[in-house]
Amino acid sequence: MAELTLHRVSYRYPRAARDALQGVECRFRAGEVAAVVGPSGSGKTTLLSIMAGLDRPSGGEVLVDGKKLSEMDLDAYRRQYVSVIFQAFHLFPLLTVLENVCFPMELLGAGEKDARAQARRNLELVGIAEEKHRRYPSQLSGGEQQRVAIARALSSGARILLADEPTGNLDGENSRNIVDILTRLAHEGGYCVVIVTHDPAIAEAADAVYTVADGELSRMA
Ligand SMILES: Nc1ncnc2c1ncn2[C@@H]1O[C@H](COP(=O)(O)OP(=O)(O)O)[C@@H](O)[C@H]1O
Ligand SMILES: [Mg+2]
Repeated sequence: MAELTLHRVSYRYPRAARDALQGVECRFRAGEVAAVVGPSGSGKTTLLSIMAGLDRPSGGEVLVDGKKLSEMDLDAYRRQYVSVIFQAFHLFPLLTVLENVCFPMELLGAGEKDARAQARRNLELVGIAEEKHRRYPSQLSGGEQQRVAIARALSSGARILLADEPTGNLDGENSRNIVDILTRLAHEGGYCVVIVTHDPAIAEAADAVYTVADGELSRMA
């Protein structure tokens, strides 16, 4: 299982005059998709960075399955507990699709054969056909690249998936496809999925909806 609880979390960038996040109180559960919506500059990416362990909060606590993130090994957390999916996919351009998905497993010490077998299963899960496994990311459509990015995000065994505007570069049909995959991972796979977005369609499909305004988070649904 995996869930993330934020308790009175605040964050201020170095030398900034005001907090980018303040008093954030929420709980993201396993098996659920949460959408966080808010205008540009409201603090969405900052919130994901804190949850991804890329930055320590200035105040408050992040709890991972009830354990304080501040007392955990942050590198291990980033490698094994949490994966981030980005708007711009961020696949490695010089690695094939299969190699991209293998990469996190090899980083964790898996053998090549095991990594490849697991990578194929992950790619199947997101609907990337075998004949595309040897292509480079530039030889795929945007929607396919994002699906490969999701397959790679699963490779580390992380149970918390954080997506920052994952459909921002995609058309309507591909966006729905990505949301369907993330929803399936939450509902059927028990993953804790948090999607930051300004796409109302994502918010509509989510189990929980939060809005951020000026660094403050409120639950809407
Ligand atoms: N590296 C940074 N240094 C200083 N301020 C930043 C930095 N990154 C973001 N901010 C500020 O923090 C606030 C929230 O930004 P961000 O989390 O990126 O918003 P969003 O993702 O909702 O567009 C904004 O006012 C932004 O200007
Ligand atoms: Mg952002």
